[in-house]
Amino acid sequence: MKLSIIGTGYVGLTTGACFAEVGHEVICVDNDTAKVQMLLDGGIPIYEPGLEELVQRNVAAGRLRFTTHIAEGVSQSGVVFIAVPTPPQPDGSVDLSFIERVAREIAGAMTSYKIVVDKSTVPVNTGDKVAETIRRYGKTGVECDVVSNPEFLREGFAVEDLMRPDRIVVGVRSPRPVATMKEIYAPFDAPVLVTDINSAELIKHASNSFLALKISYINAISVLCEATGANIQEVANGMGMDVRIGRRFLQAGLGFGGSCFPKDLSAFIKIAEQIGYDFRLLKEVQRINTEQMQRFLRKITDTLWVLKDKTIGVLGLAFKQNTDDVRMSPAIELCQRLQKEGARLRVHDPKAMDKARGVLQDVTFVDDMNTVAEGCDALVVATEWDDFKQLDLERARKALTHPILFDGRNLFDPEEMEQRGWIYKSVGR
Ligand code: UDX
Repeated sequence: MKLSIIGTGYVGLTTGACFAEVGHEVICVDNDTAKVQMLLDGGIPIYEPGLEELVQRNVAAGRLRFTTHIAEGVSQSGVVFIAVPTPPQPDGSVDLSFIERVAREIAGAMTSYKIVVDKSTVPVNTGDKVAETIRRYGKTGVECDVVSNPEFLREGFAVEDLMRPDRIVVGVRSPRPVATMKEIYAPFDAPVLVTDINSAELIKHASNSFLALKISYINAISVLCEATGANIQEVANGMGMDVRIGRRFLQAGLGFGGSCFPKDLSAFIKIAEQIGYDFRLLKEVQRINTEQMQRFLRKITDTLWVLKDKTIGVLGLAFKQNTDDVRMSPAIELCQRLQKEGARLRVHDPKAMDKARGVLQDVTFVDDMNTVAEGCDALVVATEWDDFKQLDLERARKALTHPILFDGRNLFDPEEMEQRGWIYKSVGR
């Protein structure tokens, strides 16, 4: 099928590449000329495992193209996906101006029936607004169906999540676009749930908020574990064995970050408020997340006392492993708060150093994780990269002035660390 995707961010680019991989003809559109040029030259603007090869393979096969002209995408495809950013505004609500502009541009370029699919995360009722906008700015007599098709991919696993999704949600106003949507997704072999548009939009915010709630829940339990000498890993394992609960997203640590959870939570609280519901449960999820960072910092200052003129080595800058994304990264926040206390920092991340240079000042970026500890008073693990499990602990212990490790992601075994002579502090253990 001929598809176009407006917006080549994490969602748009990966979706476009995966659609092409299963045989669709895809045109990716972006108004960022530098980004499109980079893609045309064979470059990839983000780090995402497997994406570069996927893009290159499908460009070479002629199934994936890039352009800055929205009209080109719209005229050459029957289905137009919108995957533009929906950033937060200062009050937590969602800025829908990109969606609105793209809807107008699609309307202006449409000369025949199109299915317009919203993939961006949007507040409930946005689909209706998009349909209204296209009607208002479109040519008379040209019909269109608006569909809500939220995306559930995780950064760092985007290709995997897209190629093997748990479910495909298709929100529609009428049955007319359903068969085409099912045909687009047929190669992915996933259950397709057809709902009304508002339900589809709510499914996205409700799912992300629930996952954030799960993380805050386990972080709250970690506080009880620390107070009672219980072990959060064992508690999470025991809870997770109940299939109604499940083990995933029960990893205690520094809390959640990234470009989705914090933003989607604020947006969902705001959406509820506008509807007249005070979503206090989700406000508590936010509060626990903020407090988790404060508690971890307290652990560091309780041990090191004054941070002024101390040097701390920080492992991890990305908001989670397998990505170079540092947006709303708990690791970056931790660095900035340590700096505020007067600490000097030596930092390392396997992929996010370049992006971190844009947000962290006056820190030493260290290329090799095994040399971060040199001249440091303590080490901190801030991101759950598997790579850090291979850290040369003996070398790090000898390089530190004191063998102290604050593990914000519970990567190491407390007993083993103590046996090796470390002062080891983790979360909920
Ligand atoms: C999330 C959703 O998972 C995805 O379905 C949605 O489409 C976009 O938002 P993403 O932001 O890429 O994806 O990352 P995710 O893997 O969900 O992790 C989010 C944050 O939670 C990270 O900071 C991570 O470190 C933290 N996290 C995750 C935990 O602290 N504990 C966990 O058990 C899981």
